[in-house]
Amino acid sequence: MPKNKLNDLDPKTWLKFQKSWFIHNPPPRKRDVLTHPAKFPETLAQEFIEFFTKRGQTVLDPMCGTGSTLIAALRAGRHSYGIELNPKYAAIARQMVEQERISRQGKADVAEVVTEVIQGDAAQACQYHIPVVDYVLTSPPYWDMLHAKGAENQKKRRETQGLDVVYSDDPRDVGNIHDYQEFLEHLVRIYAGLKPLLRVQAYVTIIVKNVKKGGKIYPLAWDLGRELGKIYVLKDEKLWLQDNQRLAPFGLGSAWVSNTFHHYCLQFRNE
Ligand SMILES: C[S@@+](CC[C@H](N)C(=O)[O-])C[C@H]1O[C@@H](n2cnc3c(N)ncnc32)[C@H](O)[C@@H]1O
Repeated sequence: MPKNKLNDLDPKTWLKFQKSWFIHNPPPRKRDVLTHPAKFPETLAQEFIEFFTKRGQTVLDPMCGTGSTLIAALRAGRHSYGIELNPKYAAIARQMVEQERISRQGKADVAEVVTEVIQGDAAQACQYHIPVVDYVLTSPPYWDMLHAKGAENQKKRRETQGLDVVYSDDPRDVGNIHDYQEFLEHLVRIYAGLKPLLRVQAYVTIIVKNVKKGGKIYPLAWDLGRELGKIYVLKDEKLWLQDNQRLAPFGLGSAWVSNTFHHYCLQFRNE
């Protein structure tokens, strides 16, 4: 193995991560974070962070939700900054980080690690005094899908449990932009706006899905790859497959409608 400039992994773990797909079935969520409609698992985030950074480096999630990236970074001994628009989720993220710190007390690495949750708008990231970071790991709202018709039973179930069915009613919330092109352009502007915060050669991983709406596909992952590829270099994709979801009989007997159980983890680099 030549000198490893990217991470602290041994060659075997490095190679394992380089497969272009992985199956990760999220473990059950803690009660405190259930109110958030869509989060990625900390265990998944930690694998990405440990591949794309070294211990002691800094990670940013500009839409950090309830803080999965920050908790994963803390576990991996990386500093992290998260921006979240919804004050409720930002507060939960702070609380989750605090709980994680308490549960890891006594472990020397944790005391030194900086973790900061900023309640604010990702579009203003450069104004929040965030230092230059070594890696961005994030996932945006999948357009306005939480507002879309469908999955009514699931929505009703969440509502009766007092859980959120949309992220917020804030107009700055990109999940509230209903025009697809406008949404895509704004999202690309937000990610492009992070460039001054990114170290040269830093990677950016965006976890995203293509979106089905009104009987057709809006190729959000592919559009984002193309458009953001004009700002950073689009290096690769890695597919996150879920293999424990219940199949629904969409279009049974009449049309092809897939059960979409994969996300794209798009890899860009600030070259
Ligand atoms: C897919 S969720 C991220 C979930 C997060 N990865 C986690 O595991 O908890 C997208 C998040 O983006 C937030 N968001 C939407 N627009 C935003 C904006 N302009 N600035 C910051 N956060 C925003 C939403 O409130 C939501 O929590």
